[in-house]
Amino acid sequence: MTRKMLIAGNWKMNGLQENRTDFQNMIDGISPSAFDLHDVLICPPATLLYTFSKMAKGSGMLVGGEDCHPAASGAHTGDISAAMLADAGADYCIVGHSERRADHKETSALIKEKANAVLQNSMTAIVCVGETLAERKSGNATEVVTQQIRASLPTAATAKNCVIAYEPVWAIGTGVTATIDDIAEMHTAIRKLLHEIGGEALAAARVLYGGSVKPSNAAEIFAIDDVDGGLIGGASLKAEDFNAIVAAAG
Ligand code: 13P
Repeated sequence: MTRKMLIAGNWKMNGLQENRTDFQNMIDGISPSAFDLHDVLICPPATLLYTFSKMAKGSGMLVGGEDCHPAASGAHTGDISAAMLADAGADYCIVGHSERRADHKETSALIKEKANAVLQNSMTAIVCVGETLAERKSGNATEVVTQQIRASLPTAATAKNCVIAYEPVWAIGTGVTATIDDIAEMHTAIRKLLHEIGGEALAAARVLYGGSVKPSNAAEIFAIDDVDGGLIGGASLKAEDFNAIVAAAG
């Protein structure tokens, strides 16, 4: 089965107005054929989302949010609803990133509510999962990821509205990438689980790898059978690196 690759950048808490140049260089530097072949997405901080969505119009580049609140609106100072992100031009929204799970004590139950809100606003949810180093060392990586997926997936998840991003916590921002065998094993397990949960329809969902993806390792990671693209942090901030990663998708 051929799934369209998704190459997604997560800018995290990085990016000011001056970084519009970097984003423009991404749009200009990615070939039209790459935009045709793959989905290419940048999730900037919310302060840049509207500007980026205007810049991306007509280019093939997609934009998304990094997180959202589960409620449609209300007294939640400092939070941003899925409707606001969609209104600013977002096509996708990341939920359940390990930095949210760790820094903000987000549970899988909350992440599921957020993912539901993303779908209700006609965006695609990127649901992040991944084990810590301690969990991997104790042999529990697959079990942890299985539980996270079961509890975090939106109620109406399909291959169209939902993407899974497997990001081992110990590989994020560390320069350490999981081995090809570790990635392949986990992605195969995730695919099997998706089939168990939602049959063929859900098993066709894209499963991304994230964690120290860079121009030098992207091609071999993207060549793994059950890897359908990447969620890229640090290397998505510079056009030269991000565009090289997109090119590595073939
Ligand atoms: P790095 O690519 O910087 O390791 O970050 C990965 C990540 O967390 C993407 O969401």
